[in-house]
Amino acid sequence: MDARTSRYHDIYAHWQRDPQDFWGEAAREIDWFEPAKKVFDPDAGIYGRWFTGAVCNTCYNALDRHVASGRGAQAALIYDSPMAGTKQGYSYEEVLFEVKTLAAMLKDFGVEKGDRVILYMPMVPEAVFGMLACARIGAVHSVVFGGFAAKELATRIDDAKPKLILSASCGLEPGRVVQYKPLLDEAINLAKAKPQACVILQRPQAQAGMISGRDHDWRDLRDAAIAAKKSADCVPLLATDPLYILYTSGTTGIPKGVVRDNGGHMVALKWSMKNLYGVEPGEVYWAASDVGWVVGHSYIVYAPLFHGCTTILYEGKPVGTPDAGAFWRVIAEHGCSTMFTAPTAFRAIKKEDPQGKLLAQYDLSKFRALFLAGERADPDTLQWAENLLRRPVLDHWWQTETGWCIAGNPLGLGALPVKHGSATVPMPGYHIDIVDEACKPVAAGTIGSIVVKLPLPPGCFPTLWQQDERFKESYLNEFPGYYKTADAGYKDADGYVFVMGRTDDIINVAGHRLSTGGMEEVLASHPDVAECAVMGIRDELKGEVPCGFIVLKAGVNREPAEIEKEIVALVREKIGPVAAFKLAIMVKRLPKTRSGKILRGTMKKIADGDEWKMPATIDDPAILEEIGAALKGKGVGA
Ligand code: COA
Ligand code: AMP
Repeated sequence: MDARTSRYHDIYAHWQRDPQDFWGEAAREIDWFEPAKKVFDPDAGIYGRWFTGAVCNTCYNALDRHVASGRGAQAALIYDSPMAGTKQGYSYEEVLFEVKTLAAMLKDFGVEKGDRVILYMPMVPEAVFGMLACARIGAVHSVVFGGFAAKELATRIDDAKPKLILSASCGLEPGRVVQYKPLLDEAINLAKAKPQACVILQRPQAQAGMISGRDHDWRDLRDAAIAAKKSADCVPLLATDPLYILYTSGTTGIPKGVVRDNGGHMVALKWSMKNLYGVEPGEVYWAASDVGWVVGHSYIVYAPLFHGCTTILYEGKPVGTPDAGAFWRVIAEHGCSTMFTAPTAFRAIKKEDPQGKLLAQYDLSKFRALFLAGERADPDTLQWAENLLRRPVLDHWWQTETGWCIAGNPLGLGALPVKHGSATVPMPGYHIDIVDEACKPVAAGTIGSIVVKLPLPPGCFPTLWQQDERFKESYLNEFPGYYKTADAGYKDADGYVFVMGRTDDIINVAGHRLSTGGMEEVLASHPDVAECAVMGIRDELKGEVPCGFIVLKAGVNREPAEIEKEIVALVREKIGPVAAFKLAIMVKRLPKTRSGKILRGTMKKIADGDEWKMPATIDDPAILEEIGAALKGKGVGA
């Protein structure tokens, strides 16, 4: 790793000099039905659009062209599920067959270009086929993570208004089968926008009850479509047409529908495979995430397939399925060249197998590098992974909104020296500034808001689904000329970017992005709760976990433990188990400033056992003592 031998600085300078030339060149890696009229049109969309006038199809670039060029027999997808006890490979030809068939099934339901299809699916190959089948016919998919509860699914149904929902009878979590169908039924009951039909994959671990007239058996439809030799061709789409909507936590309980287009997405992701991840076509690439998250969209499904790689769909955990050697087994068995996961997974492995003894059982000779993202890679975990793997362990920073890396260490261009705690340097396309509240750049080493100069590069979201105003309000208005990342951090004198935390109410729980504001809405809906505050507090394994403080309404005389239990159950029911909300603490009152603002920052410091100062504006200092005592009662804080 040597800054002098890396091509990064030359490549970044090329982009700075002539962004259109840079992205125009990258676009040659994609097969277009018609080339773009303009590489970038500053007058289109909200901040300009990439590859305007180009006609293309994402599924064609993921599958058809590889089969046409002789890659048909190569594995496109390996499904490895310790949960189901299944391992199954699918060649490019086989995936294409499944996708053509499923696309024809969707068309039979009247699904057309521009229609939305929601996928509420576990980590099974059909989820990937579903996404690609939508892409093939120009339907806009929206995958909802299986760990979300019915109400969250209902909110997404009402926003996306899908014509059809693809789902399965169950997901598999260690020790329990998660029945998806009752959650789906409840969500559809709650939603105002009713889908015309649901296609349900029955898994052997649970049989879903079907609603006659609305629900259809996935396998029956597939068998019938194959018998009738049904198959759907790729629909020509504009590069600027939407490929998918992915909902992510916003600062309220209403999630933001991040829109991804077809053209820019393909160009950026294809570029990243070789230049950022250092992977060649034909190699095996593994992102241990879930198709419900952006990492799953970009690096389980789309990017590896655009690049002609073999991708791995792993339905399991880093530990407990069956042990902390699970990742090493997958890497060795399938010959992975590169792996991508969240630091929390490595913290879990480190906790179970601190010496990394299980690694010795496996041959990792094809494995070249580990990439981490989703939350800040804490230096301890990074160091541990480096010592154990003796290969590059590279943190990189990105967001659902961007769809790919904002700052990273470009292994394919020649890795730069690693600085623990830093995501390394901006990728081409991203001009990163650190600014103060007045939008003035701050000096190197000074923490400020991290902003990206407009226009955002190809692959990033052009807007929020049917919410241009919310897009502008949430991301563009505060720092004119910039995209607000809502992350805070600094750049050092070498231009390395250090991402330190969010500037809004978003927390990162085991790499999952959640809104504390959304949780507060749930707590406040409990009939006994007068006031509440939720914040993320430090957690050794998950990075952060939510902690809720509640003040009861006057006159409520129920047992505190009982109410706390109800509140924990309520968050699980309304948001889902993924929120990992286990800590509800009853207090007499909340600490506030004289103007009535809850002092969440100070409460968090007390809970984290960090040093804290009495805020000058506090209304009543005694309340912080009460908070400390309440936390201690739960075994939290110093
Ligand atoms: N469907 C239903 N429930 C789900 C689910 C799904 N797809 N995924 C998770 N859950 C549930 C879990 O069963 C758990 O429920 P519990 O409270 O009954 O135990 C809860 O949601 C929290 O899940 P998770 O955050 O995965 O925590 P965990 O304790 O089960 O596992 C880790 C901890 C660190 C092992 C796990 O978070 C992990 O593997 N993380 C990898 C990182 C990752 O995938 N990041 C995504 C972005 S890159
Ligand atoms: P998501 O949209 O779920 O990918 O979450 C994006 C958020 O996760 C970012 O805004 C950051 O707060 C955090 N994040 C992701 N990757 C990193 C990283 N490498 N370092 C620090 N924070 C990160």
